[in-house]
Parts: sequence; C-alpha cells; structure tokens
Amino acid sequence: MARSDIVDVVSDYVQLSKRSGANLFGLCPFHSEKTPSFSVRQDKQTYHCFGCGKGGGVINFIMEIENLSYRDAIEFLARRAGMQMPAESDEERQLRGRRAKLLELNRAAAMWFFENLSKPEGAAALEYIRERRLLPKTVKRFGLGAAPNSWESLVDEMRRRGYADQDLIDAGLAKRGKSGGIYDSFRNRLIFPVIDVRGSVIGFSGRILNGEEPKYLNTSDTMVFQKSRNLFALNLAKKTKRDMLILVEGNVDVVMLHQAGFDCAVASLGTSLTPEQARLMKQYKDTVVIAYDSDGAGVKAAQRAIGLLEPAGLQVRVLRMEGAKDPDEFIKAKGPEAFELLLERSANHVEYRILAAKAKYDMDTDDGRLGFLREATQILAENPSPVERELYAGRVAEMIGVSADAVKSEVRREGRYRAAAEKKKRERAVMRPEVSAQPVSKSIRYENVASATAEEGVVSLLMADPQLVIFTGELTPEEFTSPFLGRVFAKIKERWNAGAAITPAVIASGLEPDEASHLTGMLQRPVNLGQAREAMADYIDKIKTEKLKESGQRDLLAVREKYQKKKGLGG
Ligand code: UTP
Ligand code: MN
Repeated sequence: MARSDIVDVVSDYVQLSKRSGANLFGLCPFHSEKTPSFSVRQDKQTYHCFGCGKGGGVINFIMEIENLSYRDAIEFLARRAGMQMPAESDEERQLRGRRAKLLELNRAAAMWFFENLSKPEGAAALEYIRERRLLPKTVKRFGLGAAPNSWESLVDEMRRRGYADQDLIDAGLAKRGKSGGIYDSFRNRLIFPVIDVRGSVIGFSGRILNGEEPKYLNTSDTMVFQKSRNLFALNLAKKTKRDMLILVEGNVDVVMLHQAGFDCAVASLGTSLTPEQARLMKQYKDTVVIAYDSDGAGVKAAQRAIGLLEPAGLQVRVLRMEGAKDPDEFIKAKGPEAFELLLERSANHVEYRILAAKAKYDMDTDDGRLGFLREATQILAENPSPVERELYAGRVAEMIGVSADAVKSEVRREGRYRAAAEKKKRERAVMRPEVSAQPVSKSIRYENVASATAEEGVVSLLMADPQLVIFTGELTPEEFTSPFLGRVFAKIKERWNAGAAITPAVIASGLEPDEASHLTGMLQRPVNLGQAREAMADYIDKIKTEKLKESGQRDLLAVREKYQKKKGLGG
C-alpha cells in the first residue's frame, strides 16, 4: 500500500510553512494558539505540537482529527489516496454486515415511529407536538415520531418484518425481561431520531408524554451509536449558512430553534459535553454560541463547556437569556427577532467570565475588589485580542472604581510574566530533556525518573539510527522501569530482527494517543550520533545501576524488617 505522506495529509487541515530546521510549522489544529507550535517532520513522517504535546504518525493524526478508530483511519487514508482497502478479514466483514443490519433496523423503526403520528396510537404524541407548538414541517424535517403506550408494538412489527429479537436488543430498541421475552425500550414517548452526519439513523431520544421518569430516554451505546461522539441535529446544522453552531441543552430547544430559523442548533445527547463533541463541532464551524439553560446548573455546565470548546480551537460566545429558562421558552415568549438580537450581542465569553468572577466577591469591601481584580487580570491576560483586553480592562476598572490605566498596566504585567514562562517552558522542552523528564500526560508516570531518562535516551538513539540495536547487548525490555518505553524498545528489537522498517510513524501507530504524543515529543530533541556508542553504553549503565539501587533498597528493607522482628517491634 503506497503510503500517505504526512505533510500532504496534514496540509489538508493545517497551513504549514515557516521552516525551522527539518520542521514545518503551523497553527495547531488540536488547541487554540496564535503562534505556530505545531510541527511536522517529513523525514520522520511525524507531527508534534510543542504547545499541547499531541503527536504521532499520519494514522494518529487522522484518528485524532477525524475522530476515527484505527481501522477507520486507515480506510480514510486509503480512500483519500484513491485506493482500495486491504482485504478485510472475515471478522471485519461480519462486523460491517452487523452494523449495516442495525442501521437498516433503526431506519425502519424511525419510519414506523413517524407513521404512528397519523394513527390512533400516536394521538398523545401528536397532541404534545401541538402543545409545544411544533409545526408539521418541523416534525417532518426532524422525522419526529410516536412510541405507543404499549409494551411490544415495535417488537411485534419488526418481528413481522423479519428482524430477530437479538437485532432489536443490539440496536437498543428492545430490552430482555425477567421472563426471557423482550419488550420495547421506548414507550409512550415523543421520539427524536438521532441521525449522524452521514445521514444514518444511529439512535433515538424519547421524551415521556406523561409525568413519568426519566423525562428523556436515550439509546444506550450500541455498535452504531456512541452518545459521546455525536450531537443531536448536527446532520442538519452542518448545512447552515450561519458561521456558527448554537449549542443548547435540550432536544426541544434544538427543534424549536430550527423552526424559528436558527438552523445551526445542536445538543449533546443526554450527557454533558465531551471533548470528542467539541472536536466534531470544530470540523464544521469555528464559533460556538452556548445557549444553555439560565438556571444554576446551566451556568455551571456552560463554564465547563467553555473549558472544552476553547482547547478544541473554537471561538466561544455565551448567550444570556434574561426572563426565560431556555431557548425554547425564550423564542415562544419573545420571538425569533429577539433571539437574533441576543445572538448578535451574545456576550463574548470574556465578559461572561468576568461577570461570573465578580459574582464571587463582595464588591463593597477592599478585599473583595482586590480579589476580583486579581481574577479579572488573569482572565484578561489570557485573551489574545488586544482590542478585547483594552475594552474589558476599562469595564473592570469601572466596576472597582480605579483608573483604566491601572488595570491595563496590571494586565500587561501579567501578560509579560506569562509570555516569559511560556518561553522558558518551550526552551526547556526542546533543549533540556532532563528537566522535563516527567511526562506531561498523567497516564504515563515514570516511577524512576533517572532510569526512565536513560531509557528515553536508548529509545531516542535507536529511533535515530536503528542499527545501534547491536550495541544494546543484553539489555531487555523487562529491565526498563517504564512499561511504555519497554514496549517501544521490544518493538524496535522485534522489527530489527525481522528486518522490518523502524520509523517513528510505525512505532507510534501501535501506541495509545498519550504515548504516541510523548514519543514524538522525545524525538524532537536533538540526538548526537557522533558519540552514539558511548552514549548508549552510558544509558545502559544508568539503567542497570538504577536497577541495582532498587533491589539494594529492597534488601535493606528486608534486613531492617528482620531486625525489627527480632527486637519484638512487630512487622
Ligand atoms: P431538560 O430537562 O432541560 O430538557 O434536559 P428540556 O428539553 O428542557 O425538556 P422539556 O421537554 O422542555 O421539558 C435537557 C436535556 O437533557 C437530557 C435530554 O437530552 C434533554 O433534552 N435529559 C434530560 C436526559 O437525557 N434525561 C433526562 O431525564 C432529562
Ligand atoms: Mn425545555
């Protein structure tokens, strides 16, 4: 299979330029930044971001940015390169067939739910639709439907059409009862089909029609549906002409917004927002306007969402609806024009955060005002826009009754301090590996930093020149204190013995995302191949000494324990 060149692939997403050594640089697609710290190396076929630490080979890149599994990423690249997929295994063919079957069943169920609206079984749902003032064209556009108030109408119908009980269970449409029979998951509910961006019905969300609990029921995760990776109505919103997405909490809010002409509204599916959903949105638009409920829970959820959306590179704005609890209620009470106005004036999130900070302090006391000033300064210093910094510094000054210049100079000082800290961090990351020895990622934690640093040295040398394997002598993966580095070492040796290519991209493709990122980070550091043999010997020596130290300590502990026992001090 001809390979996909990483520069070529990444260029679809990132404008690469500014050559610095062997690196091409661009603005990182995985976090928000103003100066490029995302680098690609053509010779090594890897990418690495000095800002957020993400990195890997071309497959990792596609998995990350397109939100795909390993297998799908390969398929994606193959399709992109205009090639056939490598033949799939029997198991894979079966899986694909199974998925297709469940999608077909979901579509049939969605049609049936929809048709129920014109039958007596759908009368209650239809009445509810009228009450909430949803128009027929809206019902049709979303394919809303009715789940009758009965235990097995869907099950009966789908059995009649030849579907097996297991199909219904696997699609999440039915559940198995104690007696062994199966019954409908959705009963007496208004049905909202969840349709993915390719147009497949992947699941359902149902609102109860009487007061029973839970109010909303969502399809649990199935082979074709992952709540955390999809957004309700994105299939429609992705076609909007507006230059933003509106993120709301409720399904009804989404539907009502679309009906009122805001065809860019989406909602997460009965879970709080996930990073995957943030990235999914970024694939379509650069701006997200949060229009969550105006109650305390909504405000909290909005703050949490900002923390997920910004790192995905999205511009975030927050809508504040006064006098209504959610967009549905707002539109009904004040009309679409009023919502349009809100959207235009939607508080920039800076303002939102400043107001939230202000609410925490007692502004009648000096202490309170100082505390607020400190927090506001932090918020402003983070803001990359000089215009916004200027504007809001003025507002903050007004709020605490000091001169605008005083606040501005505080913000500048904080900004300089941050810039210096950033610069130091960058330099350290590139130039002095031992200082940044402990991985940034929480999932890789070095138990023995001294040994792990030497282990990194071994791996770096081998990646730079695989032939150096012959100088690793008796060193075994088991002697590595970092299991992750041990695995990398084992893989390098294995491929060396098999005569297979050893490239960062190949090695990274078998690693967890955090591990791949850490590996490419390591490989960005300069390696001096001039003294490679000596360096290798030193590293191995260090690993062995650390090992001895560890076992030495164990011996010591054993001796002490024995001594304590003898003295009757207990074990
Ligand atoms: P809300 O209760 O705010 O929904 O929950 P809503 O749309 O305002 O409700 P109504 O229909 O107008 O009264 C917001 C979202 O949280 C999820 C649903 O996705 C809902 O749209 N949710 C809520 C659940 O998944 N389960 C629940 O029991 C309640
Ligand atoms: Mn509501």
